[in-house]
Amino acid sequence: DDTKTGVKGLVDTGILKVPKIFIRPLNELGHNSDSNLNHFQIPIIDLHGYADDKHQRQEIVDGILSASQNWGFFQVVNHGVPTSLMEGMTKAVHRFNEQDDLKKELYSRDRARRVRFHSNVDLYISKTANWRDSLIFNMLGPDPLHPQELPIVFRDITIEYTKHVKNLGDILFELLSEGLGLKPDFLKQMKCAEPCNVVCNYYPPCPEPELTFGSPLHTDPVFLTILLQENIAGLQVLHQDSWVDVNPIPGAFVVNIGDLLQIISNDTLKSVKHRVLVNHMTPRVSVACFLTTLYNATNPFGPIKELITKDKHPIYRDVLMKDYSSYYASQGVDGKSALDYF
Ligand code: SIN
Ligand code: FE2
Repeated sequence: DDTKTGVKGLVDTGILKVPKIFIRPLNELGHNSDSNLNHFQIPIIDLHGYADDKHQRQEIVDGILSASQNWGFFQVVNHGVPTSLMEGMTKAVHRFNEQDDLKKELYSRDRARRVRFHSNVDLYISKTANWRDSLIFNMLGPDPLHPQELPIVFRDITIEYTKHVKNLGDILFELLSEGLGLKPDFLKQMKCAEPCNVVCNYYPPCPEPELTFGSPLHTDPVFLTILLQENIAGLQVLHQDSWVDVNPIPGAFVVNIGDLLQIISNDTLKSVKHRVLVNHMTPRVSVACFLTTLYNATNPFGPIKELITKDKHPIYRDVLMKDYSSYYASQGVDGKSALDYF
């Protein structure tokens, strides 16, 4: 059988040129050469001692707050998630994407599945396609997946991995709450971290990487993203108007503030634009765990009352997750931030 699936399927046919649908307008690509003009590096937060040393915990809280204000991004080390589990997870994403196309097709053709394989989720609303295939599912919500719903090549490690990431998310929400001057369990009580939407990205090598993106410029329409990236560059963050590479650090997670945390913190924490470049040589894998709230949550989200003072007026109005998400979905990821909603 010669079924070809997704962008990887296209690459496997041996193409030497990027098909037109993937080619970005020049004004977007113009920025491609801006990176690395500076020696910025996104902040690194060492979580060692956060639980048992009051002084160290305060330093960590301050570091996270300042990174979230100035960058919207940081990397965490000594976070307690075993390196073997992280490596196992990226290997599993390779296994899934590098198996028979027919096996992947099962997860894209059957719309009833809750684990879905997509090449370009937003293809019908975006002008340009992305150089990326993704496996997407929702873990740990009120109606959790049955293990059998996950592809076999992927199953056990994913269940174990997402449990650990969810724990790390709880810790980060505590530290962020403290940084905002709130009770440690404040953000957790707001239910910012259920469910956890998992997007496993596979960016195949690209014959003309300067013409397209793995992911175009966007912000994340969630509360917090915990990202595992393979030891291959590609992710860039917009900082002081230039693109800064998020250099992979083995064993580290990349954490970034999403739109919803920016809204409820009344702009203290920043949801920052980022994008993914592709390369000539090697496929790149990343696993994003989007910590967010239920799509149909009935409580609206707006600036936290405790953070509003005489000279800090609310910048955003209250919004339902459902309305915010459908706004984002209707825009396409292309260059837009769901914060344009306001
Ligand atoms: C994304 O933010 O869209 C994915 C990040 C990555 O793959 O590094
Ligand atoms: Fe993102």
